[in-house]
Amino acid sequence: MYPLRRNRRLRQNDAIRSLVRETFISPNDFLVPLFVVEGNGVKEEIASMPNYYRYSLDLLKAEVKELWSLGLKSVLLFVKVPDKLKDNNGTEALNKDGLMQRAIKTVKDVCPEMLVMTDVAMDPYSSYGHDGIVSDGIIVNDDTNAILAEMSLSHANAGADFVAPSDMMDGRIFEIRSLLEDEGFHDTGIMSYSAKYASAFYGPFRDALDSAPVDQQHVPKDKQTYQMDPANRDEAIKETLMDIEEGADIVMVKPGLCYLDIVRDIKNTVHVPVAVYQVSGEYAMLKAAAEKGWLDHDTVMLEQVTAIKRAGANIIASYFAKDVVRVLQ
Ligand code: PBG
Repeated sequence: MYPLRRNRRLRQNDAIRSLVRETFISPNDFLVPLFVVEGNGVKEEIASMPNYYRYSLDLLKAEVKELWSLGLKSVLLFVKVPDKLKDNNGTEALNKDGLMQRAIKTVKDVCPEMLVMTDVAMDPYSSYGHDGIVSDGIIVNDDTNAILAEMSLSHANAGADFVAPSDMMDGRIFEIRSLLEDEGFHDTGIMSYSAKYASAFYGPFRDALDSAPVDQQHVPKDKQTYQMDPANRDEAIKETLMDIEEGADIVMVKPGLCYLDIVRDIKNTVHVPVAVYQVSGEYAMLKAAAEKGWLDHDTVMLEQVTAIKRAGANIIASYFAKDVVRVLQ
């Protein structure tokens, strides 16, 4: 073939590279996770997530307006719950004046068009730091689902556009969809964390929300009985297909970079939007390496989000969203 075929012809300058480029990143790709805390005037940096913060509701307003002005039109809300409000049933999660419910209203007040997605899971509310009710060392499935459905309804009532169950209980999408339909929330969507792995990359997030499983007798030390084994691939497709059947509008693979083969498998298999969560540990890793001067932050960041999109992501949930927009501008 050589010299008829010289692949470098398509790489010789910026103009031709731009012309043949296959993947583009824009603000439209991103879903921005936001951490919310009680209080006033609080903007606390998360120790293991440099330049990422927890906001009290008053300061959340400015942050949301800034995101909107940058073209970032979707947020994913998480709340940090005070210890004294935590119990085994996550009772506080259903408080209609709880922090999440107020956070949803706050975002909608300052920016009605901002798409609001909410984390639906018990762990920030659980005294054991688990995504379900703990009983005799077991995470109980069906009773947890009933709570997740009520939590979703409560978020919908407060004005959430999408609920995003991140727990990995079996059948929860069906329970949530059914209750939302029964209560008239036909247009409230579900983004399911459908292929969520039992990953060690969630460490900084658990610092951010103080939500790690507690070290106590009869409490599982990790989430391996509900989150997926990183070694498995077929199982990710099975989980995802089941969630779609149960009523998920958007499915998700989590974490991102280590699981791009799964993203591509799922993208090739399903016909709903696929979200990828570039998780806290992925963020922390790059920030740390850049701080040391070992990696070039912006270039590596763009390479990573481009790779996630190239693998098949339609939506990228990422702590880098603002950084990416800054670099693109
Ligand atoms: C828990 C939840 C986790 C994340 C999102 N929702 C952590 C976990 O499963 O322990 C992790 C996100 C991240 O690491 O950025 N329901």
